Amino acid sequence: MKRIVSGIRPTGDLHLGHYLGVLKNWVKLQDDYQCFYFIADWHALTSEYKDPSIIEQSTRDIVTIWLSVGIDPEKSVIFRQSHIKTHAELFLLLSMITPISWLERNPTYKEMKEELKEKDLSTFGFLGYPVLQASDIVIYNADKVPIGEDQLPHLELTREIVRRFNFLYNDTILKEPMEILTEAPKVPGLDGRKMSKSYGNAIFIDETEESLTEKVMQMLTDPKRKTRKDPGEPHDCNLYPFHEYFTDEVTKQEVQVGCRTAGIGCVDCKHILIKSLIAEFHSIWEKIGYYRGHATLVDEILNDGCRKAIKESDLTIARVRAAMQLME
Ligand code: TRP
Ligand code: SF4
Repeated sequence: MKRIVSGIRPTGDLHLGHYLGVLKNWVKLQDDYQCFYFIADWHALTSEYKDPSIIEQSTRDIVTIWLSVGIDPEKSVIFRQSHIKTHAELFLLLSMITPISWLERNPTYKEMKEELKEKDLSTFGFLGYPVLQASDIVIYNADKVPIGEDQLPHLELTREIVRRFNFLYNDTILKEPMEILTEAPKVPGLDGRKMSKSYGNAIFIDETEESLTEKVMQMLTDPKRKTRKDPGEPHDCNLYPFHEYFTDEVTKQEVQVGCRTAGIGCVDCKHILIKSLIAEFHSIWEKIGYYRGHATLVDEILNDGCRKAIKESDLTIARVRAAMQLME
């Protein structure tokens, strides 16, 4: 089977954007690929180094959610980046051959530094972020990397580093990975802006029935529907895109017609959506509860993943050491 590698930075709770854009896709990929999914805690440190407390907490929460949405430890290798020390060794070795100019011209680097001014990202670690990411990927000989568009420059850099390595050491020791581009989900946040934890407008995967209901009730709808009698247009509504993902075909048609003819009100429409969301997440919430109550099980899964990841990464690092004439 071809290999997949992907990671998530543990910097907060996962929301519906992650669910639709990342996790559902990861679950599907398990059937066709040998997948390595990891918590990129070292990557999180590049921006959260002043207060790393968020990393520990969200690492557990995220693994719990992975397991609950169907990332299956029987099929996939699930682990924490910082437990596999060879990622750091490969990062060091690849940094020897990576020109600084490649890193400085990386658009993600420039943007993030600008956007997160308060975090002081003028560090060596942050500049080297893509080299660490390249190590994560090539240490498992990944064929494919499922990522969003924002991560494309990092993957291109990974390929450039691989080509340079193979060129310098006269061999095809490292594999060039290709992306599986995942489409960004078209659901907005509660206020109509992009869903993001930092905007405070997110619906998280781990909500309760009450908190979910409260959030949906807050959502902005088509402003043309000033009163119950005014017809609206689903495509001008922040809430409607959620129906596209979570509500069945027949009900969706009813919602469209009801909206355009003022046959239903927005409150009715919200109740329909709440029902769809509960249908989708009910069993996921149950599993989250289960794994929270069985913390040692989560630890065992992570330890098991760690063992498998070490075994695989040791093979690559041995070849890299030999290529760079670092004999045992
Ligand atoms: N940089 C990625 C992100 O912010 C996370 C990441 C780290 C990653 N290492 C990776 C993704 C390796 C794919 C492969 O989303
Ligand atoms: Fe949006 Fe539904 Fe209200 Fe139409 S009825 S505006 S789709 S919430």
